[in-house]
Amino acid sequence: MQAARLGQRAPAAVRALYRVPDPEGRLVQTFWRSEARRGLTFRLPVGLAAGFDKNAEGVPLWAALGFGFAEVGSVTAQGGEGNPTPRAFRLPDDRALVNRLGLGNDGAEVIARRLAALERPRDFVLGVNVAKTHDPAILGRDAVEDFRLSVRPLLPHADFLVLNVSCPNTAEGKTFEEPAALDGLLAAVMAECEGQSSTVPVLVKLSPPRVLAGSVVAAYDFGCTDELVSVAIAHGVEGFVASNTAPDRDGLATRPETVAEIGRGGLSGRPLTARSTALVRRLYRLTGGALPIIGVGGVDSAESAYAKVRAGASLVELYTGLVFEGPGLPSRIGRGLLRLLDRDRLDALADAVGRDA
Ligand code: FNR
Repeated sequence: MQAARLGQRAPAAVRALYRVPDPEGRLVQTFWRSEARRGLTFRLPVGLAAGFDKNAEGVPLWAALGFGFAEVGSVTAQGGEGNPTPRAFRLPDDRALVNRLGLGNDGAEVIARRLAALERPRDFVLGVNVAKTHDPAILGRDAVEDFRLSVRPLLPHADFLVLNVSCPNTAEGKTFEEPAALDGLLAAVMAECEGQSSTVPVLVKLSPPRVLAGSVVAAYDFGCTDELVSVAIAHGVEGFVASNTAPDRDGLATRPETVAEIGRGGLSGRPLTARSTALVRRLYRLTGGALPIIGVGGVDSAESAYAKVRAGASLVELYTGLVFEGPGLPSRIGRGLLRLLDRDRLDALADAVGRDA
């Protein structure tokens, strides 16, 4: 974030370094367009995943690095420090991270004011990710109200809104990843959107599936994903983000003692790749490809991004890849995707979406 603050003082210089030349607009996609809505045009399909820029302090830099969009947040109604340090760990042998940051951020009101003052980069889409305040005492109706309180000031500044109902880092963070609870939450959030006459698309971010032990080929337990998707669609949710980090430690090469020393937290990066792609595929099949899916989990190359696209993701995001690969990654992925489209003789990225679903 310090580099981001420096880098965005000279966005033009950074932009020149990380440009993704796409004169024919093969990577460009527009979603959520209707007679009543202009829709959102994503010039580039790679976005910054939630959690990196929790307080919306680096937006001009993300645009200059070759990201087409970013999800700032998670933002919560009440700000806070998050969990005590150490709370983020590298597993270099696995190209993975374990984190238990615990949703520290400046709070919805402060971040809304920051977004209001932000000079928005051109051709850049800004998503705002919201979560429940990290406080186990806020439960039930209060939790719904808490979510609504963070949506209220942020909605006017978001191009799209993501409800993070899958944070593994708070005891009660997943309260809403259960059909009846999601139903109640979405009723409140959609009422807030209606009350503001907002047409901002609302997306839901889900947990990765559990890996089923003992099977020879990878097999996953999707839990109540199908019901969650039905509930979401019934409320007018217009997309999904798949997936958040995983609470377990499946498929790691790092020594078990090292893993045990780290303790609890969400696993991200390469060990998550296949699982999040499996969820993308599941969501694509469930929705018949009607809603955009943002694929996230282990994207650290053009190839891994393209696999998510072919499984059904219209857009991808990354966090851990940026930590291991550095700031050139989004631009390398953009250029690499153009090469992969050539290889597969496809005109546009949109033509690759869901080919392997
Ligand atoms: C995250 N992630 C995350 N997600 C979210 O919705 N809200 C958040 O505040 C955070 N915070 C956060 C912090 C850290 C340190 C990490 C590594 C991750 C999850 C992130 O957005 C993404 O879904 C997963 O990390 C999987 O993608 P990668 O990291 O494998 O590209």
